[in-house]
Amino acid sequence: MQNEVYQRVSDANVITEKYMDSILVEERLIDSVVADTSTTFLGETFSMPVFTPAFSHLKEFNGREKTGLEEYSIAAKESNILNFCGMMENDQFRKIMDTGAKTVRIVKPYADHAKVLDQMQFAEDAGAFAIGMDIDHIFGENGRDICVGEEMAEQTTEMLRDYVERTKLPFVVKGVLSVRDAVKCANIGAKAIIVSHHHGRMPYAVPPMMILPQIKEALKDRGVESIVDCGIAGGADVFKALALGADACAVGRSMMPSLEKDGVEGVKAFLQKVGNELRYMMSFTGFAKVSEIDDSVLHFMK
Ligand SMILES: Cc1cc2nc3c(=O)[nH]c(=O)nc-3n(C[C@H](O)[C@H](O)[C@H](O)COP(=O)(O)O)c2cc1C
Repeated sequence: MQNEVYQRVSDANVITEKYMDSILVEERLIDSVVADTSTTFLGETFSMPVFTPAFSHLKEFNGREKTGLEEYSIAAKESNILNFCGMMENDQFRKIMDTGAKTVRIVKPYADHAKVLDQMQFAEDAGAFAIGMDIDHIFGENGRDICVGEEMAEQTTEMLRDYVERTKLPFVVKGVLSVRDAVKCANIGAKAIIVSHHHGRMPYAVPPMMILPQIKEALKDRGVESIVDCGIAGGADVFKALALGADACAVGRSMMPSLEKDGVEGVKAFLQKVGNELRYMMSFTGFAKVSEIDDSVLHFMK
């Protein structure tokens, strides 16, 4: 959001990057060992607390046979991490499930309520790991957002509670960026939240890692796990998020060059690099296990 007179930087992506880079980490080397990045999330064990993003609308890259969504899903399965996908029709979701990846389907807040319910039920029947909704994709410049020709609609606490009650699967709310919404998620029985501003949909959105400690405090002992996304580009970013209270992170656009160029193998190599960087940060700071990481090693640049 820029103006001819005032050159203000309102882009939440830029603000978020700046905030993340202002968080510094001390070293604790004596008695440290090579760390283990394996983790549990929603009761399942994964090789690392680094998950794929809830992406949509990725075509086949470089003339390859599978879509980018299928390719990164295969990479998630082969890397033993949790997979996410976003807006899509049921036939596309079936193809994601056919990859065998443990997948969370994030359904859009469609104005067509029957479509929301249908996609959630389809995901459950197809064996999804969890379902959820990106509540940060409701509003657009002219009121309700129109996303790829489809109108979105406001979501109330009661509607979200209804989704939770209808499904046997854990319910994940994506796009939580306040204590107020986080507490509402806990109240309706959501099992996880994604602390995110959806790559900067709202100007001046608070960086997820800045609001995360308050959210964690508010959700203490409420049984809600949290994932951070937006601007996660490497293992140091993941480490900072975990130290601030996240249970896991999702990479996003940082994965795209590897996906476009080398498909499944590119994403696997990218994820491996992020995981190695995380292990490196953990080893340097004396945290042998993911569950041990805390914020006592962090320093905030003024
Ligand atoms: C091509 C593309 C498609 C996306 N589609 C969806 C979607 O359908 N549902 C959703 O919840 N988020 C969607 N997102 C947002 C991502 O899940 C994620 O929140 C965001 O990209 C994080 O920021 P980062 O890219 O800076 O890491 C999409 C992002 C991109 C770049």
